[in-house]
Formats: sequence, C-alpha cells, structure tokens
Amino acid sequence: MKFFVDSADSEAIKELAATGMVDGVTTNPSLVAKSGRDFKELVAEICAMVDGPVSAEVTALEADAMLKEADELLAIADNVCIKVPLTWDGLKATRALADKGKMVNVTLCFSANQALLAAKAGAAFISPFVGRLDDIGADGMGLIADIRQIYDNYPELETEILVASVRSTEHMRASALIGADVATLPPDVLKSLINHPLTDKGLDAFLADWQKSGQSIA
Ligand code: E4P
Repeated sequence: MKFFVDSADSEAIKELAATGMVDGVTTNPSLVAKSGRDFKELVAEICAMVDGPVSAEVTALEADAMLKEADELLAIADNVCIKVPLTWDGLKATRALADKGKMVNVTLCFSANQALLAAKAGAAFISPFVGRLDDIGADGMGLIADIRQIYDNYPELETEILVASVRSTEHMRASALIGADVATLPPDVLKSLINHPLTDKGLDAFLADWQKSGQSIA
C-alpha cells in the first residue's frame, strides 16, 4: 500500500520524506493557498523531495483550458500528476492526458458511479473523499469498499484507489483492510500511525531494567 502526504507544507513533507514512508504527495488549491507559496515553485520543490507522483490540481473548468494548465504543470517535473475535478470536462481532459501517457488523479469523488467514470476515462488515481462524506453523515469507508469491489469486478480498469480526506488513524486502518491502493494522509495523521501507549510503556520498562543490569552494548 502506498502512503502519500496530503499537504502543501514543504517542511512537513521534507520531514516525512526522511522517514522513507512517503510514496507521493497530494496538494489542492486550498492547501496551496494556505501555504502562501507560489504554486509552480512549490510543486517544483516538492517534486524534488519525493520520487513518486505529486498531484497538482488544475483550476480551469473547461477541458481545453484544463489541458493548457496541465501542460504548464507537467513542464515542472516528470513526477507531476495532474489533478482534475470529477466533471465531464475533467473526464475529457483525463482521457486526453491518459492517451499521452500522463498520470491523472481525478478528485472530488463522492460516489461509486463517479469512480467508474474516472476509471473508464483512464485516470491513474481516483480520489474518494471519505472525511467529507462522514461529515454529512454518509459512509466514507463504505464508498471505498464499493469502489474496490467494482474495480475488482473489471480487471481492465487499472485506476488506483487513493483514499482522500483522511481524518483519522481509523480511516487508515479501514483503508488498508479494504485493500485501497493508496491513502493520502495529513502529516499529523501519518505521524500518529506509530502511536501506541503500550509501546511507550514497554520501552520505558526495558530501558529501566537495562540500566539496572549495568551493561552497555557499544
Ligand atoms: C487530497 O487530494 C484532497 O484534496 C484532500 O484529502 C481533501 O481533504 P479535506 O477534505 O480534509 O479538505
């Protein structure tokens, strides 16, 4: 399973990339705006930090204009993945980019039928937003399970399920159990995957006992 970092904070991405756990990065216009950085400069910096796909989202609404923006973004680095919204124009742009061998991440997916359309359009990734579904009382992880089953029913669909809008370690656990291909995690969620109080307690006890033994290894 691949771990992406869901962030436009280059320092946070750098710190996590150093753990060797980061297979890619996702950004969106809101995260970029929050960073206060120039978009293209930021994408170039992130692309140099990780080998895997770095999603950069177009903001045009019409397919031809999306493709123009995509050309600008693709010129930044080889690992740029173009992110497009789940609209008919977004799907048209997806097909055109996929036909040229470019990676596309189709974002803002909230239904299984939308995920099916994105896969038929040739998307490399589909991004279902689990947290935002949970926020309105719907079943975010249920959508991931449905998409997994649908894609598995049709092996010719090669789109990877990229779980987005992840809010908790429970979303991560459930994504892995369902067999999602990728989860994109906010830095604090990724960091907290390692936490368990019994690990801390056990390590404290081992170290206290070791000190009592008076030994040292090196
Ligand atoms: C990632 O590609 C998405 O844009 C992101 O996960 C959305 O997260 P949010 O719903 O917490 O804004």
